[in-house]
Amino acid sequence: MDLLYQVMRIPYLHGIWKKFPIGSVQTKVLHGIFPYANYAYGVYWSSVFAARLGIPRITVIEFGVAGGRGLMALEAISEEISADVGVGIDVVGFDAGSGMPEPADYRDLPHIWAKGFYKMDVEKLQKKLKTAQLVLGDVRETLPLWLSSLSSPIGFVAFDLDYYSSTKAALQIFDGPPSTHLPRVPCYFDDVCCTNIGFMNRYVGELLAIQEFNDEHDKQKVCQIEQLRLTRPRWEHWQERMYAFHNFSHELYTRNVIPSGDKYRQLPL
Ligand SMILES: C[S@@+](CC[C@H](N)C(=O)[O-])C[C@H]1O[C@@H](n2cnc3c(N)ncnc32)[C@H](O)[C@@H]1O
Repeated sequence: MDLLYQVMRIPYLHGIWKKFPIGSVQTKVLHGIFPYANYAYGVYWSSVFAARLGIPRITVIEFGVAGGRGLMALEAISEEISADVGVGIDVVGFDAGSGMPEPADYRDLPHIWAKGFYKMDVEKLQKKLKTAQLVLGDVRETLPLWLSSLSSPIGFVAFDLDYYSSTKAALQIFDGPPSTHLPRVPCYFDDVCCTNIGFMNRYVGELLAIQEFNDEHDKQKVCQIEQLRLTRPRWEHWQERMYAFHNFSHELYTRNVIPSGDKYRQLPL
């Protein structure tokens, strides 16, 4: 592994590897070779987590689909990771279909986004999707009904709805009973980043929705994954946008998931 880290310092090698994505799934996830490496990270580690808990199938979600590039990537990633890890993966995308709804107030950052941005060509996208389910409509209306008919626990969620109000509604996905989610769920938040004239801050947008979720829940929290950079061979722009939902009161939260064997459970002399 160390040798691969050294080799990967050769200029342009990362780009060439992305063009010819050979190697094991785990190595490709580690080195960010999948398109949407952030999604690959979340889907891979939640699948491994599910396997260690003995859970045979999970659901992975993209909130905010627009043209569908992210959802198609999520579908392709899930197919490859599912075959490798041996956990079934259902892929779901939520979107209004008609573009961004009306912003509610300053917390939705109307100085950056506006009604009608990012319209979807529903027919075109439906034809391109192989297995992913598209849930069309405002998440404030579609989510409760969808959650009540969920068949496998949520394992990974990408939040890309831009607005505070939409993200606040989408976070209700974690208000279902423990059977509807893994005890820890990696979550990607696309819009905690700044634009140069927006100057993102924690009193608006996704960051405010996360903070309010945490204030309103005692044993369920959404937290940035601390020091993710140290577990990755190189810096990637998405690392600081990777969070995880924790349900500390989930009966499986404390189940030990470290594999057996001295390699994992003993320190060398
Ligand atoms: C930036 S785009 C998503 C881009 C996409 N994830 C990608 O990687 O290409 C944001 C999307 O969020 C959707 N959206 C925002 N608020 C919504 C809401 N309340 N209900 C449903 N969809 C919403 C919009 O329709 C828009 O398509």
